[in-house]
Amino acid sequence: PEPLRDAAARHGRTVGVALSPGHLSQPGYAAIAEREFSLVVAENAMKWDATEPSRGQFSWSQADQVADFATRHDTELYGHTLVWHSQLPGWVDGISDPADLRDAMTDHVAAVAGRYAGQVDAWDVVNEMWDEDGTRRDSVFQRVLGDGYIAEALHAARAADPQADLCLNDYNIEGINAKSNAMYDLVADLKADGVPVDCVGLQAHLIGGQVPSTLQANLQRFADLGVDVRLTELDIRVPVPASAASLTQQAADYRAVTEACLAVERCTGITVWGVDDGHSWVPDVFPGQGAALLWDASYQPKPAYTAFAAAW
Ligand code: XIL
Repeated sequence: PEPLRDAAARHGRTVGVALSPGHLSQPGYAAIAEREFSLVVAENAMKWDATEPSRGQFSWSQADQVADFATRHDTELYGHTLVWHSQLPGWVDGISDPADLRDAMTDHVAAVAGRYAGQVDAWDVVNEMWDEDGTRRDSVFQRVLGDGYIAEALHAARAADPQADLCLNDYNIEGINAKSNAMYDLVADLKADGVPVDCVGLQAHLIGGQVPSTLQANLQRFADLGVDVRLTELDIRVPVPASAASLTQQAADYRAVTEACLAVERCTGITVWGVDDGHSWVPDVFPGQGAALLWDASYQPKPAYTAFAAAW
């Protein structure tokens, strides 16, 4: 069948995958990654703990492997992520002086975004800044620098890589709710203040049978603010072992998400958070759930793959 990347390209969109370079030694994993996708994002390799485990000491080998994959296979490269409370080394979490933390943050952004400048198409500059009620999530950045840390991070990213689109990314903002309202208001404010922000990423770690009915309207309202939108980490989890009925529902869900994106001109595409069910973060984090991706653990395409491929 036609690679997903070609199907999406007919609509001017990209279909991406979160890549863990260590898995590329498995032929089934590599074959799918190389054939199907037009965008790659590092599942972990560009995070703070991976790139700057000690202050000023950078380690690029894993991140470079993802960037090299993008070059070799002619895909877009999506950067994930510069400023995030999680997978953050202890040395950052321990900083309590604002000037010191500001330096650490801007140095990190300069180094990482600077290294991949000209290669990364878009960066998740700040990831997961909201609590479910639409107030700011607690993090060292929020505590020590206050609300302005997001604008500071965006300015630092623009300085480090003037060409990359700069995105804000979060989960549970796929539908219209308190959390997505907070993101919407923030983006409107940043735009009004002239802060560089080009895109909003909706992670889309979804539950089978529960695609938000307001997904398309929500994508559209962000687009109407003058930013691109993208489903950045799509997976749709079901109880495991998965029943045939749940996999059928999941297939319909993958189709519905794709149709919502396609209905919104500024929805630039969809990234799935992993190649196959054998290499998915879901079972580790949501006990009793899994089977969330397009290929099963034996690299066989699932009903979700068929529905997703047909939806473009
Ligand atoms: C996950 C990875 O998939 C796991 O391998 C890792 O152990 C934890 O992080 N939101 C994000 C992603 O923005 O970076 C997370 O990725 C999944 C949730």
